[in-house]
Amino acid sequence: MRKIIILFFITSTTAIAQPNGKLLASQCFQCHGPNGRSVGEIDSLAGESAAEIYDELVEFKFEPKNDIMNLQARIYTDAEMRAIANYIGTLPK
Ligand code: HEC
Repeated sequence: MRKIIILFFITSTTAIAQPNGKLLASQCFQCHGPNGRSVGEIDSLAGESAAEIYDELVEFKFEPKNDIMNLQARIYTDAEMRAIANYIGTLPK
């Protein structure tokens, strides 16, 4: 009698995907200027710390208003907001 041993190798390939802050921040730069340096009325983001950007995004996200930044912030997950903030925080003023 033959015994067939079937082994299932379940390999977890679910690498923890880190959101790409640089890529996501390109959305911000459409209004806040190339590399976060504004050329118009809207504030520059370059020069602000990651903590400042993150805190402001969280505030916009949960504020019960529907202004531009509320709508922007609402589409991002917490991990995405951190990635965006960490990237913008590296930009020179
Ligand atoms: C469609 C245009 C638009 C986009 C895209 C946009 N913003 Fe804004 N943002 C604004 C405007 C307008 C204000 C100022 C009005 C206000 O405070 O509600 C502002 C204000 C801010 C402020 C507060 C002011 C300051 O300089 O600290 C922060 C922080 C900010 N945006 C970050 C971001 C980040 C990060 C992104 C990308 C995730 C982003 N914004 C995308 C238009 C935009």
